[in-house]
Amino acid sequence: MGPIDMSVQLGPLRLKNPVLVASGTFGYGLEHDDLCDAAALGGVCTKGLSLEPREGNPPPRICETPAGMLNAIGLANVGVEAFCRDKLPVLRARGVTVVANVFATSVDDFARLAARLDREPGVAALELNISCPNVAHGGLEFGRDPAAAARVTAAVRAATRLPLWVKMSPEAGDLGAVARACEQAGADALSAINTIRGMAIDVDSWRPMLANRTGGLSGPAIRPLAVRIVWELGRAVRIPIVGIGGVASGRDAVELMLAGASAVQVGTASFVEPTAPARVLAELGAYCHKGGLAPRELVGKVR
Ligand SMILES: Cc1cc2nc3c(=O)[nH]c(=O)nc-3n(C[C@H](O)[C@H](O)[C@H](O)COP(=O)(O)O)c2cc1C
Repeated sequence: MGPIDMSVQLGPLRLKNPVLVASGTFGYGLEHDDLCDAAALGGVCTKGLSLEPREGNPPPRICETPAGMLNAIGLANVGVEAFCRDKLPVLRARGVTVVANVFATSVDDFARLAARLDREPGVAALELNISCPNVAHGGLEFGRDPAAAARVTAAVRAATRLPLWVKMSPEAGDLGAVARACEQAGADALSAINTIRGMAIDVDSWRPMLANRTGGLSGPAIRPLAVRIVWELGRAVRIPIVGIGGVASGRDAVELMLAGASAVQVGTASFVEPTAPARVLAELGAYCHKGGLAPRELVGKVR
Protein backbone atom coordinates (compact mmCIF):
# COMPACT_ATOMS: atom_id res chain seq x y z
CA MET A 1 0.00 0.00 0.00
CA GLY A 2 1.37 3.44 -0.93
CA PRO A 3 1.50 6.41 1.41
CA ILE A 4 -1.86 7.74 2.63
CA ASP A 5 -2.92 11.12 1.26
CA MET A 6 -3.41 13.00 4.54
CA SER A 7 -4.55 16.27 2.93
CA VAL A 8 -7.98 17.73 3.58
CA GLN A 9 -9.95 20.43 1.83
CA LEU A 10 -11.60 23.09 4.00
CA GLY A 11 -13.62 25.13 1.54
CA PRO A 12 -11.05 27.17 -0.42
CA LEU A 13 -8.12 26.03 1.73
CA ARG A 14 -6.21 22.79 1.35
CA LEU A 15 -4.28 21.60 4.40
CA LYS A 16 -1.47 19.06 4.16
CA ASN A 17 -3.08 17.12 6.97
CA PRO A 18 -6.04 17.51 9.34
CA VAL A 19 -4.20 18.17 12.63
CA LEU A 20 -3.77 21.79 13.76
CA VAL A 21 -2.94 23.34 17.11
CA ALA A 22 -5.68 25.31 18.89
CA SER A 23 -5.48 29.02 19.54
CA GLY A 24 -3.96 30.04 22.86
CA THR A 25 -2.31 26.69 23.53
CA PHE A 26 0.73 26.93 21.23
CA GLY A 27 1.72 30.58 21.52
CA TYR A 28 2.37 32.11 18.11
CA GLY A 29 3.66 28.83 16.70
CA LEU A 30 7.31 29.54 17.50
CA GLU A 31 7.55 28.81 21.21
CA HIS A 32 7.60 25.01 20.88
CA ASP A 33 10.21 25.02 18.12
CA ASP A 34 12.65 22.56 19.61
CA LEU A 35 9.88 20.13 20.59
CA CYS A 36 7.32 20.09 17.80
CA ASP A 37 7.83 21.00 14.11
CA ALA A 38 4.89 23.33 13.46
CA ALA A 39 5.46 23.16 9.69
CA ALA A 40 4.70 19.42 9.72
CA LEU A 41 1.22 20.05 11.13
CA GLY A 42 -1.90 20.94 9.18
CA GLY A 43 -1.65 24.42 10.65
CA VAL A 44 -1.16 26.64 13.67
CA CYS A 45 -3.99 28.75 15.05
CA THR A 46 -2.25 31.70 16.67
CA LYS A 47 -3.00 33.10 20.08
CA GLY A 48 -5.97 35.46 19.65
CA LEU A 49 -4.77 38.72 18.10
CA SER A 50 -6.33 42.11 18.78
CA LEU A 51 -5.67 45.52 17.19
CA GLU A 52 -3.80 46.72 20.29
CA PRO A 53 -1.63 44.64 22.66
CA ARG A 54 -3.53 43.30 25.69
CA GLU A 55 -2.27 42.33 29.14
CA GLY A 56 -5.20 40.04 29.86
CA ASN A 57 -6.59 39.21 33.29
CA PRO A 58 -4.61 39.29 36.57
CA PRO A 59 -3.14 35.97 37.85
CA PRO A 60 -3.86 33.27 38.79
CA ARG A 61 -5.25 32.67 35.30
CA ILE A 62 -5.12 28.89 34.95
CA CYS A 63 -5.87 25.93 37.21
CA GLU A 64 -5.99 22.19 36.77
CA THR A 65 -9.32 20.36 37.06
CA PRO A 66 -10.36 16.70 36.74
CA ALA A 67 -9.61 15.73 33.12
CA GLY A 68 -9.00 19.30 32.06
CA MET A 69 -8.14 22.83 33.03
CA LEU A 70 -9.75 26.21 33.58
CA ASN A 71 -8.26 29.31 32.02
CA ALA A 72 -9.10 32.97 32.23
CA ILE A 73 -6.18 34.43 30.30
CA GLY A 74 -8.38 37.26 29.02
CA LEU A 75 -6.81 37.31 25.55
CA ALA A 76 -3.37 38.60 26.50
CA ASN A 77 -1.46 39.09 23.24
CA VAL A 78 1.23 41.19 21.54
CA GLY A 79 -1.23 42.91 19.19
CA VAL A 80 -1.55 42.49 15.44
CA GLU A 81 1.27 44.90 14.49
CA ALA A 82 3.91 43.13 16.60
CA PHE A 83 2.63 39.80 15.31
CA CYS A 84 3.01 40.90 11.68
CA ARG A 85 6.44 42.45 12.35
CA ASP A 86 8.08 39.88 14.65
CA LYS A 87 6.32 36.52 14.34
CA LEU A 88 4.73 36.13 10.93
CA PRO A 89 7.95 36.50 8.87
CA VAL A 90 9.57 33.68 10.88
CA LEU A 91 6.51 31.46 10.53
CA ARG A 92 6.41 32.17 6.80
CA ALA A 93 10.10 31.35 6.37
CA ARG A 94 9.55 28.04 8.16
CA GLY A 95 6.62 27.09 5.95
CA VAL A 96 4.06 27.03 8.76
CA THR A 97 0.40 27.19 7.70
CA VAL A 98 -0.82 30.09 9.81
CA VAL A 99 -4.44 30.52 10.83
CA ALA A 100 -4.65 33.94 12.47
CA ASN A 101 -7.14 33.83 15.34
CA VAL A 102 -8.56 37.31 15.89
CA PHE A 103 -10.60 38.99 18.58
CA ALA A 104 -12.20 42.45 18.85
CA THR A 105 -14.83 44.16 20.94
CA SER A 106 -16.67 45.75 17.99
CA VAL A 107 -17.72 44.75 14.49
CA ASP A 108 -15.61 47.57 13.01
CA ASP A 109 -12.49 46.43 14.84
CA PHE A 110 -13.00 42.85 13.64
CA ALA A 111 -13.11 44.23 10.08
CA ARG A 112 -9.99 46.37 10.68
CA LEU A 113 -8.07 43.36 11.95
CA ALA A 114 -9.13 41.35 8.91
CA ALA A 115 -8.10 44.13 6.53
CA ARG A 116 -4.73 44.43 8.28
CA LEU A 117 -4.00 40.69 8.03
CA ASP A 118 -5.28 40.56 4.45
CA ARG A 119 -2.22 42.61 3.40
CA GLU A 120 0.22 40.12 4.93
CA PRO A 121 1.61 37.23 2.90
CA GLY A 122 1.75 34.06 4.93
CA VAL A 123 -1.70 34.08 6.52
CA ALA A 124 -3.62 31.04 5.27
CA ALA A 125 -6.95 31.78 6.98
CA LEU A 126 -8.62 33.85 9.66
CA GLU A 127 -10.39 32.34 12.65
CA LEU A 128 -12.83 34.71 14.33
CA ASN A 129 -13.07 34.23 18.05
CA ILE A 130 -16.63 35.25 18.83
CA SER A 131 -16.80 32.78 21.68
CA CYS A 132 -14.30 33.75 24.41
CA PRO A 133 -15.92 33.34 27.83
CA ASN A 134 -13.23 35.33 29.69
CA VAL A 135 -13.71 38.92 28.54
CA ALA A 136 -16.34 41.44 29.51
CA HIS A 137 -17.02 42.63 25.95
CA GLY A 138 -16.83 41.13 22.50
CA GLY A 139 -16.78 37.46 23.41
CA LEU A 140 -19.97 35.58 23.99
CA GLU A 141 -22.13 38.58 23.20
CA PHE A 142 -21.32 37.97 19.49
CA GLY A 143 -21.19 34.20 19.64
CA ARG A 144 -24.53 33.67 21.31
CA ASP A 145 -26.67 35.77 19.02
CA PRO A 146 -27.24 34.76 15.36
CA ALA A 147 -27.74 38.36 14.19
CA ALA A 148 -24.62 39.65 15.96
CA ALA A 149 -22.55 36.68 14.74
CA ALA A 150 -23.75 37.36 11.17
CA ARG A 151 -22.83 41.06 11.45
CA VAL A 152 -19.26 40.26 12.49
CA THR A 153 -18.90 37.57 9.81
CA ALA A 154 -20.30 39.78 7.03
CA ALA A 155 -18.08 42.74 8.00
CA VAL A 156 -14.97 40.54 7.98
CA ARG A 157 -16.05 38.88 4.74
CA ALA A 158 -16.23 42.32 3.13
CA ALA A 159 -12.76 43.23 4.46
CA THR A 160 -10.79 40.19 3.26
CA ARG A 161 -10.64 37.44 0.70
CA LEU A 162 -8.84 35.15 3.12
CA PRO A 163 -10.60 31.90 4.02
CA LEU A 164 -12.78 32.68 7.00
CA TRP A 165 -13.45 30.35 9.94
CA VAL A 166 -15.80 31.34 12.75
CA LYS A 167 -15.26 29.78 16.17
CA MET A 168 -18.40 28.58 17.92
CA SER A 169 -19.25 28.70 21.61
CA PRO A 170 -20.81 25.71 23.39
CA GLU A 171 -22.77 28.32 25.33
CA ALA A 172 -24.79 29.69 22.41
CA GLY A 173 -28.39 28.72 23.12
CA ASP A 174 -29.35 27.85 19.57
CA LEU A 175 -25.95 27.05 18.11
CA GLY A 176 -27.47 25.76 14.87
CA ALA A 177 -29.00 29.20 14.27
CA VAL A 178 -25.67 30.95 15.00
CA ALA A 179 -23.89 28.52 12.66
CA ARG A 180 -26.35 29.02 9.81
CA ALA A 181 -26.16 32.80 10.25
CA CYS A 182 -22.36 32.67 9.94
CA GLU A 183 -22.59 30.39 6.90
CA GLN A 184 -25.02 32.74 5.17
CA ALA A 185 -22.83 35.74 6.03
CA GLY A 186 -19.88 34.20 4.19
CA ALA A 187 -17.97 31.92 6.58
CA ASP A 188 -15.92 29.23 4.80
CA ALA A 189 -15.74 26.94 7.84
CA LEU A 190 -16.74 26.73 11.49
CA SER A 191 -14.46 25.75 14.33
CA ALA A 192 -16.06 24.13 17.34
CA ILE A 193 -15.75 24.36 20.24
CA ASN A 194 -14.28 27.11 22.35
CA THR A 195 -14.15 26.53 26.11
CA ILE A 196 -17.22 26.44 28.34
CA ARG A 197 -17.34 28.46 31.57
CA GLY A 198 -16.54 26.69 34.80
CA MET A 199 -15.38 27.56 38.29
CA ALA A 200 -13.17 26.02 40.97
CA ILE A 201 -12.91 27.04 44.63
CA ASP A 202 -10.08 26.42 47.09
CA VAL A 203 -11.86 24.90 50.09
CA ASP A 204 -9.05 25.91 52.47
CA SER A 205 -9.02 29.62 51.66
CA TRP A 206 -12.64 29.66 50.40
CA ARG A 207 -11.39 31.70 47.44
CA PRO A 208 -11.98 31.03 43.76
CA MET A 209 -8.94 29.40 42.16
CA LEU A 210 -8.91 32.02 39.40
CA ALA A 211 -8.65 35.78 39.98
CA ASN A 212 -11.35 36.16 37.33
CA ARG A 213 -13.49 33.75 39.45
CA THR A 214 -14.75 31.85 36.40
CA GLY A 215 -12.76 30.46 33.49
CA GLY A 216 -13.08 28.39 30.35
CA LEU A 217 -13.01 24.63 30.81
CA SER A 218 -10.98 22.65 28.25
CA GLY A 219 -9.33 19.27 27.87
CA PRO A 220 -10.67 15.69 27.80
CA ALA A 221 -13.50 16.76 30.11
CA ILE A 222 -15.19 18.58 27.21
CA ARG A 223 -14.56 16.08 24.42
CA PRO A 224 -18.02 14.46 24.49
CA LEU A 225 -19.51 17.95 24.35
CA ALA A 226 -17.36 18.76 21.30
CA VAL A 227 -18.30 15.48 19.59
CA ARG A 228 -22.01 16.19 20.11
CA ILE A 229 -21.73 19.79 18.89
CA VAL A 230 -19.65 18.91 15.82
CA TRP A 231 -22.22 16.24 14.95
CA GLU A 232 -25.09 18.72 15.37
CA LEU A 233 -23.31 21.40 13.33
CA GLY A 234 -22.74 18.88 10.56
CA ARG A 235 -26.51 18.65 10.24
CA ALA A 236 -27.04 22.41 10.44
CA VAL A 237 -24.56 23.69 7.81
CA ARG A 238 -22.91 22.63 4.55
CA ILE A 239 -19.53 24.32 5.19
CA PRO A 240 -16.72 22.24 6.74
CA ILE A 241 -16.20 22.01 10.49
CA VAL A 242 -12.92 22.03 12.39
CA GLY A 243 -13.37 19.96 15.57
CA ILE A 244 -11.80 21.11 18.85
CA GLY A 245 -12.12 19.81 22.38
CA GLY A 246 -9.98 17.44 24.37
CA VAL A 247 -8.14 15.85 21.46
CA ALA A 248 -5.15 14.02 22.96
CA SER A 249 -4.74 10.99 20.69
CA GLY A 250 -5.20 9.89 17.10
CA ARG A 251 -8.34 8.01 18.14
CA ASP A 252 -9.77 11.21 19.65
CA ALA A 253 -9.17 12.92 16.30
CA VAL A 254 -10.89 10.05 14.48
CA GLU A 255 -13.89 10.36 16.81
CA LEU A 256 -14.35 14.07 16.00
CA MET A 257 -13.90 13.37 12.28
CA LEU A 258 -16.51 10.59 12.33
CA ALA A 259 -18.83 13.09 14.02
CA GLY A 260 -18.34 15.47 11.10
CA ALA A 261 -15.07 17.38 11.51
CA SER A 262 -12.90 17.78 8.38
CA ALA A 263 -9.91 18.66 10.57
CA VAL A 264 -9.15 18.88 14.30
CA GLN A 265 -7.20 21.13 16.63
CA VAL A 266 -5.13 19.97 19.59
CA GLY A 267 -5.27 22.37 22.55
CA THR A 268 -4.85 21.55 26.24
CA ALA A 269 -2.97 18.32 25.44
CA SER A 270 0.04 20.48 24.45
CA PHE A 271 0.29 21.77 28.04
CA VAL A 272 0.68 18.21 29.31
CA GLU A 273 2.91 17.09 26.47
CA PRO A 274 4.29 19.69 24.02
CA THR A 275 4.79 17.02 21.34
CA ALA A 276 1.13 15.92 21.54
CA PRO A 277 0.09 17.49 18.17
CA ALA A 278 2.80 15.56 16.28
CA ARG A 279 1.87 12.36 18.12
CA VAL A 280 -1.85 12.84 17.36
CA LEU A 281 -0.94 13.28 13.67
CA ALA A 282 1.24 10.16 13.65
CA GLU A 283 -1.48 8.12 15.39
CA LEU A 284 -4.14 9.36 12.98
CA GLY A 285 -1.86 8.41 10.09
CA ALA A 286 -1.35 4.92 11.55
CA TYR A 287 -5.12 4.46 12.03
CA CYS A 288 -5.78 5.46 8.43
CA HIS A 289 -2.95 3.31 7.10
CA LYS A 290 -4.29 0.29 8.94
CA GLY A 291 -7.77 0.85 7.56
CA GLY A 292 -6.49 1.68 4.07
CA LEU A 293 -8.33 4.98 3.95
CA ALA A 294 -7.56 8.67 3.79
CA PRO A 295 -8.59 10.92 6.71
CA ARG A 296 -11.11 12.74 4.51
CA GLU A 297 -13.00 9.45 4.15
CA LEU A 298 -13.78 9.52 7.88
CA VAL A 299 -15.63 12.82 7.85
CA GLY A 300 -19.20 12.50 9.11
CA LYS A 301 -19.21 8.70 8.73
CA VAL A 302 -20.69 7.91 12.15
CA ARG A 303 -23.26 5.17 11.67
C1 LIG B 1 -4.88 28.71 28.00
C2 LIG B 1 -5.85 28.77 26.88
C3 LIG B 1 -5.92 29.92 26.07
C4 LIG B 1 -6.83 29.99 25.02
N1 LIG B 1 -6.85 31.11 24.23
C5 LIG B 1 -7.70 31.17 23.16
C6 LIG B 1 -7.70 32.30 22.29
O1 LIG B 1 -6.90 33.25 22.43
N2 LIG B 1 -8.60 32.31 21.25
C7 LIG B 1 -9.46 31.27 21.03
O2 LIG B 1 -10.24 31.33 20.07
N3 LIG B 1 -9.46 30.17 21.84
C8 LIG B 1 -8.61 30.11 22.89
N4 LIG B 1 -8.60 28.98 23.69
C9 LIG B 1 -9.53 27.86 23.41
C10 LIG B 1 -8.84 26.74 22.62
O3 LIG B 1 -8.37 27.19 21.37
C11 LIG B 1 -9.80 25.53 22.40
O4 LIG B 1 -10.92 25.97 21.69
C12 LIG B 1 -10.26 24.91 23.73
O5 LIG B 1 -9.22 24.91 24.69
C13 LIG B 1 -10.78 23.49 23.57
O6 LIG B 1 -9.79 22.63 23.08
P1 LIG B 1 -8.89 21.66 24.05
O7 LIG B 1 -9.85 20.93 24.92
O8 LIG B 1 -8.13 20.76 23.11
O9 LIG B 1 -8.00 22.57 24.81
C14 LIG B 1 -7.70 28.90 24.77
C15 LIG B 1 -7.62 27.74 25.57
C16 LIG B 1 -6.71 27.65 26.60
C17 LIG B 1 -6.65 26.40 27.43
